[in-house]
Amino acid sequence: MRRLALILLVGAAGASLTSPAAAQAGTFPPTKLTNLKFFPKDMPVRALLDTMRGFTRALGVRCAYCHVARDTSDLAAYDFASDDKATKRKARVMLAMAADINHKYLTRLPERVTPAAGVTCITCHRGVSVPRPIEQIVEAAYAAGGADSAEATYRALRQRYYGRSAYDFGETPLAEVAGDLRAQGKMADAVRLYVLNTTFLPTSAFAHRQAAAGYLAAGDTAQAISYFEKALTIDPNDRQARQALQRIRPGQ
Ligand code: HEC
Ligand code: HEC
Repeated sequence: MRRLALILLVGAAGASLTSPAAAQAGTFPPTKLTNLKFFPKDMPVRALLDTMRGFTRALGVRCAYCHVARDTSDLAAYDFASDDKATKRKARVMLAMAADINHKYLTRLPERVTPAAGVTCITCHRGVSVPRPIEQIVEAAYAAGGADSAEATYRALRQRYYGRSAYDFGETPLAEVAGDLRAQGKMADAVRLYVLNTTFLPTSAFAHRQAAAGYLAAGDTAQAISYFEKALTIDPNDRQARQALQRIRPGQ
């Protein structure tokens, strides 16, 4: 029963993978499922395949991410029962984890929201196989290769994932990474990331105010003034930018 509930949670709506062409190949869709260790052994093939489609969407991957194949472009050439890929074995642990969260822990809440919310693969994965906040990824790139690498990494992620739920390309993540660099005394690199943030967010008063504060901390008053002014142009009610400008050039 609880497994069925999870199947429904991760299961995909919409078209099944079964196509006349695949059926003619004789081996896909499979007629029997031989190695189910999490799902009920008598789970209908169609329901299982819909769930698998849900996995690919939740993780932004294809079947071959978890399954071995002689030819990854031909579903009939897969050995779906094989547990050779670590990712498939990890996915089983994930299934058990999600079931525990839903059935052991969330059910212990003093009361639930209505309708009750549960976790599914997509709650955490949001279309990527290893779910991490973008700040963490950019900081790791910085640690490995400095500001060039941090910037290139951010640009590449934005290029690929902008408009999806995988990463937050709003105003705070880059400002947070820059703030950490600033706290470490790495002023030039901090300013670079603050300014990068403004180039992606030309209508964010916050991003411009943060860049201004970065310039100020780095000792570049002229640029600080220019960025505070841009923040005020974007949002004339930005009190923090106005007050900062008054502090830098009292009387104006
Ligand atoms: C994130 C990993 C992952 C992805 C991606 C994935 N699968 Fe699976 N698949 C699994 C796991 C885990 C099982 C075993 C479930 C169990 O033990 O109950 C499984 C089992 C299966 C089985 C049953 C094999 C058997 O006989 O026991 C089939 C068929 C299958 N998957 C097809 C697919 C297809 C088709 C795709 C692509 C649309 C796909 N899978 C994508 C993880 C994945
Ligand atoms: C509560 C959050 C959460 C949920 C829900 C969740 N995952 Fe994960 N998953 C993670 C995290 C975090 C990792 C990385 C763990 C690590 O290796 O440090 C991960 C790793 C994985 C990996 C291995 C990635 C790799 O390349 O090593 C697979 C496969 C995976 N998850 C599949 C799934 C599937 C399928 C579901 C739904 C049944 C699911 N996950 C649900 C958080 C989650």
